[in-house]
Amino acid sequence: MENLITIHLTDLEGVEHHIQAPTDMGFNVMEAIRANEIPIKATCGGMAMCATCNCIVKSDHELPEMSDSEEEMLDDAFVLDIEGSRLMCQIPVDDKIDGLVIEMGELTGE
Ligand code: FES
Repeated sequence: MENLITIHLTDLEGVEHHIQAPTDMGFNVMEAIRANEIPIKATCGGMAMCATCNCIVKSDHELPEMSDSEEEMLDDAFVLDIEGSRLMCQIPVDDKIDGLVIEMGELTGE
């Protein structure tokens, strides 16, 4: 299949997953992970309202700027000061993130 990119994810158990995600289905990274049947909480379903999909970006991909709501969520969850923290549901799956390396983040604010 064409239009596939690869995302390298380390889950909370330290297990590495190398998932393929289509760029033409309007997915965000959280949805791509779910579609690969990797357990992820994502309580709010991708609305930037829960921060349970937070991750730490380990590669130097240029990502879209954080919205105010993403920034607030990461701040409330006390993960904003961890370098590279983002919400997976706020990162669109497109060619620009092919090869993205991320780690699932713990929620320290719970
Ligand atoms: S799924 Fe809730 S903030 Fe991403």
